[in-house]
Amino acid sequence: MRYRAVIFDLDGVVCYTDEYHYLAWKALADKLGVPFDRAFNDRLRGVSRRESLRLILERYAGPALYEAQQAALAEEKNALYRRYLHQMTPADLPAEVKSTLDALRARGLKLAIGSSSKNAPLILERIGLADFFDAVADGNCIARSKPDPEVFLKAAAMLGEAPESCLVVEDAVSGAHAGHDGGFQVACVGSAARAGAGDYNLESVMDICNVISVQAVTLQPKF
Ligand code: BG6
Ligand code: MG
Repeated sequence: MRYRAVIFDLDGVVCYTDEYHYLAWKALADKLGVPFDRAFNDRLRGVSRRESLRLILERYAGPALYEAQQAALAEEKNALYRRYLHQMTPADLPAEVKSTLDALRARGLKLAIGSSSKNAPLILERIGLADFFDAVADGNCIARSKPDPEVFLKAAAMLGEAPESCLVVEDAVSGAHAGHDGGFQVACVGSAARAGAGDYNLESVMDICNVISVQAVTLQPKF
């Protein structure tokens, strides 16, 4: 079957807000005296804010924290993270991402976002894509974040497409698992590509156009 839609993760795929997540969690971890490096940060990709905090607190040597204290820490990280987001402009949409989105749309593909983030609407607005996608499923409309497939299934349903017709694009291993569990093919970039988590492990978002082309050619009916 040819792909009829592409569902993009947001942080670390459409723009580099994954770096801001890293910087904000690192600041909080440093304050708590928790060891935090980029390898550990990769485990936070794709998972919810509270699950990320839970993973950090597994390394916390201090006294047990009450729910209200944990909520305050998650809020502290989010406030720091949102300070970075508010500094973003359309110049933070990488040119190769914009040209890839335009090329996919020109080929008639439906385009969606499938992100665990509750900040997705703000990010899309900051980078000039608030009205671009045919569907946006994000952390505000799901009960379970990646690796649960809910957000991708929701995006596909919003598009009116079956999972088999959609290609998911991810930078997180948790997101690749979510895609596979939902019955999607997955193209990975960044850390998930380096981990070999995708059906396609790509150097760049631009390579998605090649994946789509190869599918279109190899899946032609045989005569
Ligand atoms: C995902 C990120 O896109 O969103 C995770 O990869 C993040 O790192 C998650 O924890 C939730 O984001 P937010 O913006 O709602 O805290
Ligand atoms: Mg991501």
